Amino acid sequence: MKAGMPAVIVALMAVAACGDSMRDQPRYDPLSAAQGWPHNQSARVPPEGTVARDDSMAPDPQSPPTALSRAQLERGRERYGIFCSPCHGGSGHGDGMVVQRGFPAPPSLHSERLRAAPLRHYYDVISGGIGRMYAYGARVPPQDRWAIAVYIRALQLSQHATVDDLAPGERKALEKQP
Ligand code: HEC
Repeated sequence: MKAGMPAVIVALMAVAACGDSMRDQPRYDPLSAAQGWPHNQSARVPPEGTVARDDSMAPDPQSPPTALSRAQLERGRERYGIFCSPCHGGSGHGDGMVVQRGFPAPPSLHSERLRAAPLRHYYDVISGGIGRMYAYGARVPPQDRWAIAVYIRALQLSQHATVDDLAPGERKALEKQP
């Protein structure tokens, strides 16, 4: 077996030398024209919604979204579920599964201090991490950080709403219940 090793290495080197054929096969040069492709371009336009890995290193959007859409809140809920709930728990009390398995518990997102914190604070914590929590900037692109921040706000409201926050019609319906 040992005596066979040099032969194997020589054979591998011979295979490696065949690399030239890769250069000779049909291919497009970067940005070259390509008949028959859309716009006659060989370069493809990324599908809508594509997030290039480097986009997360792009300059941050300076401010939180001004108009809040239902879709954005849903997106935040989904992303929170994926990236944050394992530690912070589904409703933000800091009792996620990873914590139940021994990871240091994060503070509740419902504390007075965190309820008073601006959206930017959540954005910054996601981007750069804090204390024992590592950064999620490489995995959560800027728009999703805002979406998560906004969703955390909704979570906080869900735990601190009073009947006074209800619209009159909703309040009546609630009071009718036994
Ligand atoms: C692996 C566990 C883990 C995950 C996942 C995680 N965190 Fe944390 N988080 C922590 C821990 C632990 C702390 C407390 C850090 C400390 O003070 O040392 C913390 C702290 C925080 C705080 C409090 C910051 C403050 O001012 O005290 C916020 C807000 C927060 N995390 C948001 C998030 C969001 C949003 C996500 C999802 C993108 C997330 N975390 C994902 C573990 C986690």
